[in-house]
Parts: sequence; C-alpha cells; structure tokens
Amino acid sequence: MRSCQHDEHPTPVRILEVGLGLGVNALLTAQQAAHYGVPVEYVGIEHDFQSVEVIRKVLAPFPDELVLAFCNAVEELKAEKSITDEKMTANVLTTPTRLNSQFQLQIIPTDITVALETLLHNNTERIDTSFDAVYLDAFSPDSNPECWTADILAKLGKTLAPNGRLTTYCAKGSVRRAMQAAGFKVTRRPGPPGKRECLMACF
Ligand SMILES: C[S@@+](CC[C@H](N)C(=O)[O-])C[C@H]1O[C@@H](n2cnc3c(N)ncnc32)[C@H](O)[C@@H]1O
Repeated sequence: MRSCQHDEHPTPVRILEVGLGLGVNALLTAQQAAHYGVPVEYVGIEHDFQSVEVIRKVLAPFPDELVLAFCNAVEELKAEKSITDEKMTANVLTTPTRLNSQFQLQIIPTDITVALETLLHNNTERIDTSFDAVYLDAFSPDSNPECWTADILAKLGKTLAPNGRLTTYCAKGSVRRAMQAAGFKVTRRPGPPGKRECLMACF
C-alpha cells in the first residue's frame, strides 16, 4: 500500500469499486479514512443509480455531511443530460468530489466494460489508473455475469498497483477459478456476518 499514517503528506490510497451502488462501502471507507487520517482517492463504477430518496434512506446511519455530499454527487450526475437514460451508458469521467477532509470520490457512471476501456486504454490525464485495492461488489455472477468473466477479472488485475489487492464477497468456485485463470493468487478469507467466506486476490 502506498500510504503511511505517519507521513506528513502521505500518498493517497487509491481504491476502485465496481458497483458503487448506494454508497455504503464508499461511506464506510470515508469514515475509516478520516479516523486514521489516511487520504483516500476512491473511484466508483456504477451504471444504474437508485433514486436519491432510496440512497438517503439506506445511508441514514451515516453522518449527515457524508450523506449530503454523496447524494449531491449522484444528483449532479442524474441532472446531466448525457446520463439521463435509464441505464447510464455514456463514457464519462466526472470531476472528483470531496466527501470529507481525507476522502475524494470520482464516479464513472457507466457499465463496467466501458469503464475499464476508459481506465485501461484512454490514457487519460483526468484519472490515475492504478489502484491499491479493487472492491468487486457488483451483485453476483448469476444476476450480472458480465462483471465476473475471466476477461473482466484480468482487466481489473491490470488496474492494480504493485502489491494491490482485489477483494469480493463472492466466494463461488467458478469466480475463484476465473481469478486463477486471470493469473491471480487467490485466498479465502472469513466473510462478514452471515457469510462464511469471501475472496481476496493479488499477483
Ligand atoms: C450489491 S450492489 C452494490 C452496493 C454498493 N457497493 C454499496 O456499498 O452500497 C451492486 C451494484 O452493482 C451495479 N452493477 C451491476 N452490474 C453492473 C455493470 N455491468 N456495470 C456497472 N455497475 C454494475 C448495480 O447497479 C448495483 O448498484
């Protein structure tokens, strides 16, 4: 990992999330970033945001400032003409927004395939494409198989910085084998409450 708590100006930890969704993982990470005083640059891929009313309800346990900042970012996206389709398919890199003193969020409001094309091939100056951690939190291989193919997993691997880690709550054998086929070393880790195992992968 690139950041160190004791540095005067630590290098930000960079995280890519596939399936930014309701922002729960993002806000949990923002709280940890502030707690430990570690700057985090967080990039979230999401092709189909829920309404802001639903997001606000789910995020109710979080501090108001965080919820407001996240909802504002989503509302701004929804207001933009290019992404008012039901499924947001535009190839857009949004301007990063700050959720608290340590946490910056940049949203890629599009499908995983387009988002990874943008990250890996557009050589854009608007985004650093190397991540210390990738959270793969897109539902499941049964409901949206496009996010869990060996090809997508290999592309996600290409976004990892040296010593970076890809993690997912999905512990299916087929996903573990697809990760291995993409060249990852995969370990099983204890899952969150109610989930026996999850997967962590690195090179
Ligand atoms: C389990 S939810 C994510 C929850 C979220 N990480 C959170 O902490 O609130 C899965 C998300 O993946 C998104 N998703 C599913 N398939 C996708 C795709 N092909 N491209 C981009 N996002 C996708 C869904 O729209 C949904 O919001």
